[in-house]
Amino acid sequence: MIQRIRACIALTDVTPFSYRYGTFQLRTARRLFREKKMKPIHVAVLGASGWMGKVHTMAYQTFPHFFGTSGGTAEVSILVASNPAAAVELAACTPQARILQDWRAAIADPEIDLVDICLPDNMHYEVAKAALLAGKHVYCEKPLANTAKEARELADIAKEKGLITRVGHAFPRNPVHDLAKEIIDAGEIGDIKMFRGCQHVDVFANPLTPFMWRADGTLAPTGIVGDTGTHIFSFMDFLVGRVSTLIADNVIVTPRRPKIDGLAYGEQVTLDGTEDWADVTNPDATNVMCRFENGASGIIDFSRVATGRKFMQTYEIYGTKGSLAYTYDEVNRIRYYSNDDPTGRRGFREIDVGPENETYKAFLPLPNFALGYNESKIIEVAEVIRSIVSQQPMWPTFENGHHIAQIVDACMTSSEKRQWVDIPTA
Ligand SMILES: NC(=O)c1ccc[n+]([C@@H]2O[C@H](COP(=O)([O-])OP(=O)(O)OC[C@H]3O[C@@H](n4cnc5c(N)ncnc54)[C@H](O)[C@@H]3O)[C@@H](O)[C@H]2O)c1
Repeated sequence: MIQRIRACIALTDVTPFSYRYGTFQLRTARRLFREKKMKPIHVAVLGASGWMGKVHTMAYQTFPHFFGTSGGTAEVSILVASNPAAAVELAACTPQARILQDWRAAIADPEIDLVDICLPDNMHYEVAKAALLAGKHVYCEKPLANTAKEARELADIAKEKGLITRVGHAFPRNPVHDLAKEIIDAGEIGDIKMFRGCQHVDVFANPLTPFMWRADGTLAPTGIVGDTGTHIFSFMDFLVGRVSTLIADNVIVTPRRPKIDGLAYGEQVTLDGTEDWADVTNPDATNVMCRFENGASGIIDFSRVATGRKFMQTYEIYGTKGSLAYTYDEVNRIRYYSNDDPTGRRGFREIDVGPENETYKAFLPLPNFALGYNESKIIEVAEVIRSIVSQQPMWPTFENGHHIAQIVDACMTSSEKRQWVDIPTA
């Protein structure tokens, strides 16, 4: 039996940013929202006890404190967790939600407006399709589907039914990338000629790191390409444009891993020699060369086996008049080089996104306090709700998810056939 502690907080000003994460603020938002008699968007979060499920649930509960309620609010009405042990904690953290084990029951529920899919990769297509056919808006974690064909079908159903869709590519939603896009769209770096991008982690660098669904080709058919490649591909889609052709080399670095149940992503244990072993059946690492429809060329590499790289994500975009460079280690900073600077004074200048950007300002009153991963998800969720309420699709929809799936497909085919693969135009 869980005892809930009721706290009374007395504040003279209820909106300083240091208090905004609190339940106190949640209740205030709900009360204000009810007074305005606006209907919240009812959400079912599927895969609620996993990493993304928790982050998404937090984001629905939190975003109105930063973005206000005029764009709509959300009520997390159903949490689907296949693991019954998680139910008690979930119920305590989200008391208004019903906890279900079957995602189909959540989709069938007439109260639900939005189905939020935080399930393993291979379930995305089936669940998203069922949700769209049931007339629900869908917000699906990446990768949208296992193949471009599946992604196309999902985008077409959504279009036919007039439903709002969104893929969970949150990294480009840090406002520093809106600044990069603003610079590109204003022509400040001229025509883009080259893109370089990479993303590396070392969660699977140790050959004894246990097997999990991410390394299982039946549960995650495209492995690191769908898992991590899609993040870099989303930056390409957002900032550079469509890819027209590519050549890729997928590598399985560690072919077999010990099977140990019940471990979280990245958790390590000491083996006692009695473990079963499983074959790794999807890529650990990939190197890609590509051409974009606008004529730019690209070089991209990503992996889960880069020893020492806890989370490395970078891009560099070279244009005819200037360049942009970004690294996740300085997550709110873009480096901008301009040929317009006087000779002898040229160099990359560091620009930290700050409160002159409305999205940044929603969270923090001072520059360079850093918006991190969870804030990107809060921004994403706020946009999902605003999209539904305003009926205005926002990047990245399932159409963008389809192009990203085309890039993934091309990587898988190219690596298998050892040749360049063209991507059909939209
Ligand atoms: N956008 C990002 O930055 C980002 C980051 C991490 C993961 N992801 C994506 O999010 C998705 C989930 O990843 P995660 O890291 O949260 O995984 P996770 O393993 O932490 O969570 C998955 C959850 O799904 C549940 N589940 C599995 N099968 C189920 C079923 N049949 N019915 C109901 N629940 C079921 C599991 O119990 C688990 O709680 C993946 O597609 C992954 O690629 C995206």
